Amino acid sequence: MKRFLTTRHRGQISSYFGIMKKIHIFCLVSLAVLPAFSKLFAQANPDDESFMPANPPGMKLMASHDTPAYRAAKLFQRGVNLGDYLEAGRWGVKIPAADFAQMKREGFDHVRVPVGWHRYAGGAPDFTLSPEIFARVDFAVTNTLANKMAVMINIHHFDELDKDPAAATDEFIKIWRQVAAHYKNFPNTLAFELDNEPHDQATTALMNPIYAKVIAAIRETNPQRTLFVEPGGWGSINELKNLVLPPDDNVIVSVHCYEPFHFTHQGAGWVGADFQQTGIVFPGPPAAPLVPDMSLNPKPWVLEWIKKYNTLATEKNPSSARAFTERLKYVRAWSDFYGRPIHLGEFGAYTKADAQSRANFYAAFRRTAEELKIGWCIWDWNANFHYWNAVENRAVPGMHAALFGK
Ligand code: BGC
Repeated sequence: MKRFLTTRHRGQISSYFGIMKKIHIFCLVSLAVLPAFSKLFAQANPDDESFMPANPPGMKLMASHDTPAYRAAKLFQRGVNLGDYLEAGRWGVKIPAADFAQMKREGFDHVRVPVGWHRYAGGAPDFTLSPEIFARVDFAVTNTLANKMAVMINIHHFDELDKDPAAATDEFIKIWRQVAAHYKNFPNTLAFELDNEPHDQATTALMNPIYAKVIAAIRETNPQRTLFVEPGGWGSINELKNLVLPPDDNVIVSVHCYEPFHFTHQGAGWVGADFQQTGIVFPGPPAAPLVPDMSLNPKPWVLEWIKKYNTLATEKNPSSARAFTERLKYVRAWSDFYGRPIHLGEFGAYTKADAQSRANFYAAFRRTAEELKIGWCIWDWNANFHYWNAVENRAVPGMHAALFGK
């Protein structure tokens, strides 16, 4: 928490309530709604012809799987997030130009650049963006493109939109109009992601018509630009079923998944008491049972999770690929059904997990995503979930093989 408050920007304080994202996702699965949720995933086998998502009727099927969006999705297969960088209030981690060449050498084909545009916007009615933020984003975009990777820029931590989507829509549209105009002549390997992890009041249902307006505004200057949209609930897979998108053939849907959350966020100061138990390995069960730290006052459902983690074989263990495989199968099936290519914009594990377990986790997750032909993007390059050790100037041991090994 201390680290969070000292090293993270003001806007991310609301990200402290990112606990809600994580708890929300976790609880969906582990608590009361488990039967309904597992039923949903039980239907999600892409081989099962009875699979029938039921989005609101406004969500039209795109009949062709040879759209500009499908072609663009091929450029966004193995990505890295520049986390805690341009979305941080006053700049977070530093990323020198040489790092972009290194990303390419590692094997990444795209870079996701979270941007806190709204922090550099003047007042209403124009919300004029400062030249400073454009210069910073230009640096990341041009260095990525110069190294022959695709790049995606977004609006990240736009808390005003999450608190009151209707009130913030005007600013949201005006920011995108300026960003779109600035980049209108950039190659098609630059994509825009409209909003990172809508949550709280920014439900999928409320965001649907807002997305339609922003897409129309961007299309005025960027008719061919690839756009990414995320459902509500922090980009939740379980919210895909509520999306209603305009029949635009260059829109990719992006979701986030941090399961198994007790493993990926163990000891993370920004996710609250229920996830402070450390020493969790991947995959479970551990060689010697984990003794719960009772000073954390673990809730019964946390103790139950630890009990399963200590005792169940890997195939059934909550700290294993089981935690995300059915979800990713659902994503694949949903995408195929609606003819909307899909992207996994964030997954990862905090560095409090041991290095071997992190490598095991990144390897298992990316293999599952690749088997299902879902492009992925790790959180993150050199911040608190880092792939790259900026001090030692090398990849964290095990991470390269995890992502790019066979
Ligand atoms: C947030 C980061 C956080 C990461 C993992 C991202 O969506 O922007 O601040 O570290 O999730 O929790």
